Amino acid sequence: MAMINQVKVELKKLLENKLNISGIVVETPKKGQSDLSIPLFGFVKLLGLPMMDVYHKFSDVIKDYPLYLKDEFVSGFLNIYLNREILAKNILDEVHLKKSNYGSSDINGKTVVIDYSSPNIAKSFSVGHLRSTVIGNSLKLIYEKNGYHVIGINHLGDWGTQFGRMIVAYKKWGNESLIEKNPISELQKLYVKFHDELANHPELEQEGRDAFLKLEQGDPEYIKLWEFFREQSLKEFMEMYDLLNVKFDSFNGEAFYNDKMDRVVKELEDKNLIKEDEGALVVFIGENYPPVLIKRSDGATLYATRDLAALLYRKDTYNFDKILYVVGNEQKLHFESLKKVSDLMGYNFDLVHVNFGLVLQDGKKMSTRTGKYTKLMDVINEAISNAKKAIEEKNPNLENKEEVAKTVGVGAIIFNDLKNERHLDVEYNLEQMVKFEGQTGPYLQYSIVRIFSMLKNVNLNFDLVNYQTYTNDVYFNLVQLIDQFPVVLERAQNENSPSVIARYLLQLAQEFNSFYGKVRILADDQNLLQANIYLVTAIQTVLIEGLRLLGIGYLEAM
Ligand code: ARG
Repeated sequence: MAMINQVKVELKKLLENKLNISGIVVETPKKGQSDLSIPLFGFVKLLGLPMMDVYHKFSDVIKDYPLYLKDEFVSGFLNIYLNREILAKNILDEVHLKKSNYGSSDINGKTVVIDYSSPNIAKSFSVGHLRSTVIGNSLKLIYEKNGYHVIGINHLGDWGTQFGRMIVAYKKWGNESLIEKNPISELQKLYVKFHDELANHPELEQEGRDAFLKLEQGDPEYIKLWEFFREQSLKEFMEMYDLLNVKFDSFNGEAFYNDKMDRVVKELEDKNLIKEDEGALVVFIGENYPPVLIKRSDGATLYATRDLAALLYRKDTYNFDKILYVVGNEQKLHFESLKKVSDLMGYNFDLVHVNFGLVLQDGKKMSTRTGKYTKLMDVINEAISNAKKAIEEKNPNLENKEEVAKTVGVGAIIFNDLKNERHLDVEYNLEQMVKFEGQTGPYLQYSIVRIFSMLKNVNLNFDLVNYQTYTNDVYFNLVQLIDQFPVVLERAQNENSPSVIARYLLQLAQEFNSFYGKVRILADDQNLLQANIYLVTAIQTVLIEGLRLLGIGYLEAM
């Protein structure tokens, strides 16, 4: 908990106990000089005393509080001034003691499963999958920071009738080594060819269906081909995950649940939830919803069936307290249905669809199928090369420019995604997002670099820090902001929204940069210099750790 919040709680308790009343609110005044403020209106009637007597009663109690400095009565409020010197010392000492662990919570014994990224094999990794990847990865890091045990799952789309068609196409026109060189685009070409040929050879349709049936029945040759498609696709996806530094605990995709679906159907039957509808098996989940299709009349299972099997398997395997699905807005109905079916089965899972909006380019939906970029990797590479240009201009003599450009370019894409509330659409402007100023990832990385270069030739000496310095508003504002970091982490988790952290970091960096404009940090006075460094180092620690939680790296020079 932030120190200031702890003070609020303690003051409230102290007053309520000593005065034997309840309902006291200790707040941070919107605008004003005092640090805290208590509205007194409500207690005039309650205590049957004139306002000024109420004030004196309250004031007498809080005088004993260790961080109390002074107070005053201002139009119905008790305004409290705290001993900022001690408060600031406590806050900054904690950051320096805990370093990157500042804001971390103890392990709480709870497990959360996060289902994210989850692209479809033999198909291109879409910008939507990229959003899921970066949001999910950040949530994983945030929950871990907050003491959760997190299981990250990539629910690969690796099953479905399209794989029957893929097998037919591969057997007719496929080339192993071409696919190995360029998996996704070659596999996609095959798929397109299948559909082109279909116009003149309608019999292919049936061939595809038969092939899928054989695959489902476990034909060794077909299974081998399917494994080849999966492995090659995954190889290409892994390049992206490596670049983004994203990891998973499991790649169990849809296919993994093939032999785990009978159990689900049986359980639904046992619980009397399944109905027959024109030969198909469905579950009715309420008037305003279409029934959920569990098995088609030809016996084939569906996306929803596999998700239901996955949900129950995950409960058995990980015994989660909470499960998050990081998937776009367009699957809202699917996850509502999943939740409803599992509720009807009596589970009442804490299941959250962590939804997000589209990616736009020039205001239009961006797609690797129809847009300027055919591969997502090209988008990322363009961001990296833009970053390289910017570095070339700013710092042509920098060492390892390639590495730096990668961290900046990738960070730019991630930050651009995470800075907005996730359910909104994000605009991709590859030039804008790598700018070193404005609301960008590079702006934050640059602020960190600025601190590194500032601190290069000075040594911190705790003993010389003049804590009195922090009582000044210019300083204390920053100290208070640092103090809010744990609160921000909690909010980010409660809302499953990394943007809470992203916006906080922007604010911290902005206030730091304006502080930098007002104060000569490398002061001549030793005690002031040390106070400055002590604060600036803490800011840097929080900026670096905050970026890490978004999945973004930092640099010492750029
Ligand atoms: N593969 C799916 C798609 O690309 C996303 C899967 C999301 N996760 C899930 N458990 N349904 O649309």
